[in-house]
Amino acid sequence: MYRFGLIGYPIAHSLSPWIHKEFMKRTHIDGEYEIYEINPEGSFSEKINAFRQKELHGFNITVPYKQKIIPFLDEVDHTAKAIGAVNTVRNKNGKWIGYNTDGIGYVRSLKSKYPRLFSKADRRALILGAGGAARGIYAALQDAGFTTIDIANRTKEKALDIIRLYQVQSQVMPLESVEKQIDQYDVVIQTTSVGMKPYADKSIIEIKNTKPNDTIVSDIIYQPIETNLLTQAKCYGFSLHFGHTMLLYQAQYAYEIWTGIKPPMERMDQELQLILE
Ligand code: ATR
Repeated sequence: MYRFGLIGYPIAHSLSPWIHKEFMKRTHIDGEYEIYEINPEGSFSEKINAFRQKELHGFNITVPYKQKIIPFLDEVDHTAKAIGAVNTVRNKNGKWIGYNTDGIGYVRSLKSKYPRLFSKADRRALILGAGGAARGIYAALQDAGFTTIDIANRTKEKALDIIRLYQVQSQVMPLESVEKQIDQYDVVIQTTSVGMKPYADKSIIEIKNTKPNDTIVSDIIYQPIETNLLTQAKCYGFSLHFGHTMLLYQAQYAYEIWTGIKPPMERMDQELQLILE
């Protein structure tokens, strides 16, 4: 029997147990996925060493431990190293190996909804934000063959730190300057927390004077499912891509790392949407 879990704080309302239990059902694997809430007060080192004794086959890590876990790992995969954060650990014969499945999960979700985008020779993306999520998505878009990846962020220096690491053509811009330029990209990806519940009336940018075309506007926030930015994009006639699908595909990749099996995703998007609504 497989044993998986999640560490973080607070995590009582996490959707990961539902997602992974559904994967186990779909792949006919007997196992459990438990949440292990670790209170940030007190010694993380003591708590993580006690958790190690549980000998799980694999676990996910969420806020606030995605960086703190790194010194306790035996190996860190190159993507997680570049991002500087780990969200998935595999226990390989007692050794903890760290991965980050966010960027690849995001690209998988985009590809599943918009496969034609990935056959275009010239692919242009704009990322809004320059935090950990943006870093992972940037790396995965480059690996997926995107030819231009621009970043717009409040703090210019943080965006420059990302583009320095990679070879792809990139420009760093202030947020205001991209408000009228959405239609110049194949996909625009919102990666900040601006617009997340309970501040769902906020948006990182106001879309202005753009022509409707086949640009995809994507938000990685999944609560609410349709963010203020996505509602604006819908009014302009752009195609939409929802954050809860990234949540599903980053979990799919984690499950694959643990078990070697890629779970089928049919209807999961609609089922998760029902849970979130
Ligand atoms: P994560 O790891 O989830 O990506 P993070 O590392 O805290 O989160 O990154 C948050 C991103 O959201 C950053 O790009 C941050 O902008 P700065 O680099 O200028 O800090 C952006 N962000 C958060 N709140 C914001 C706000 N109110 N306005 C503009 N950008 C904001």
